Amino acid sequence: MGRVSLTAVLVAAAAFGINLTGNYYAAASPDLAKVIQDRRQFMKGNAQQMVTINNFLEKGQGTSEDVVNASETLAANSKKIGDMFPKGTGIDDGVAQTHAEMAIWGDLAGFKAAADNMELWP
Ligand code: HEM
Repeated sequence: MGRVSLTAVLVAAAAFGINLTGNYYAAASPDLAKVIQDRRQFMKGNAQQMVTINNFLEKGQGTSEDVVNASETLAANSKKIGDMFPKGTGIDDGVAQTHAEMAIWGDLAGFKAAADNMELWP
């Protein structure tokens, strides 16, 4: 039997949802884990847009055009939120680390309405 390369072990571990800190996330749902990772990145992107807006309003950094661009990006992003929370991606589902409370799926319509409200703000 040939030697098993470290790379092969790491790839297999990744494929089966095992990370090097020993946490185990549902092997059957790698795509759901990706949904969670992607939406957390997406939310960090929203936070970055808010930093741009805040920098102009509070510190006079950047331009009013930056604020318009950031606001339009946030408004466009609000339309994506509704599809970013498929069932099975909450904190109790054990798919990946997430802060998404299970209450989201208890009132998905209300959650989506909140996302729609974000587009209207300010
Ligand atoms: C300007 C608007 C928003 C900003 C700046 C923002 C920012 C953030 C940030 C920084 C996180 C943490 C990301 C991480 O490190 O994991 C987050 C997570 C989250 N946000 Fe937002 N957010 C915005 C709008 C919204 C809206 C409108 C909703 C719902 C209607 C929402 C629902 C959530 C949820 C459920 C999480 C947890 C996601 C997870 O851990 O899987 N956010 N957001």
